[in-house]
Amino acid sequence: MKRYVRLGINIDHVATLRNARGENYPEVIEAAKIVEKSGADLITVHLREDRRHINEKDLENILNKISIPLNLEIATNTEMVNIATKFKPNSICFVPENRQEITTEGGLDVIKNFDHIKKILTNFSDLDINLAIFLDPDIDQIIATQKLGIDTIEFHTGSYANAFLTERNIELELEKIRESTNFAKKLGFNCHAGHGLTFDNVSSIASIKEIVELNIGHFIIGNAIFNGLENSIIKMRNIISKAVK
Ligand code: PXP
Repeated sequence: MKRYVRLGINIDHVATLRNARGENYPEVIEAAKIVEKSGADLITVHLREDRRHINEKDLENILNKISIPLNLEIATNTEMVNIATKFKPNSICFVPENRQEITTEGGLDVIKNFDHIKKILTNFSDLDINLAIFLDPDIDQIIATQKLGIDTIEFHTGSYANAFLTERNIELELEKIRESTNFAKKLGFNCHAGHGLTFDNVSSIASIKEIVELNIGHFIIGNAIFNGLENSIIKMRNIISKAVK
């Protein structure tokens, strides 16, 4: 049977555009409806401490009006734990958050923050939420993550995507992701991936056999300006399907 790679669409940047003018459009919920209609498997949003894109009202709307799963990206702090345990999304991906950054610049440092992350995770032990850690493709970080007792890792593909732009070290970055997913799968992890993926660079990632989910946002929302959101998602879906063996 052909492997299936779930596609999560991150719609944060619809909210970025809305917030740029402090208006109530474009509406995040309208984007979410299109994502659902386009055959994507889940909606992903990153609730940031500064609410620079989506906010709690968006979360509530998506959970009430959309039937595909919601994947919530959050930092490992008490405020976000309280919100996540209140809203109970289908899945959570824990990400590092640095107030000055433009986007999530790397994976969580599980080695350095092990005790803190372990404590944060205890808040979710009685809830039916799939938990993932956003990680750089790094063997030592994977080993540390195993001791957290969670079963999913989302690998940060940003370095690969940047290498793709500069046409340097693409193969090197790809190899790190291949080795890491292979190692993680052997330890029993579900492997997801995301960050910086585009029509041009997604195929090599989708073709990695351990990967079962991709989360893609910025490129899709940008491309939607020219080609529409539904067309952009369908095109991404087709490229991924072709790359999957
Ligand atoms: N996965 C995670 C954990 C992220 O933090 C992000 C960015 O918010 C993405 C995927 C999507 O990245 P991009 O917007 O570059 O496609």
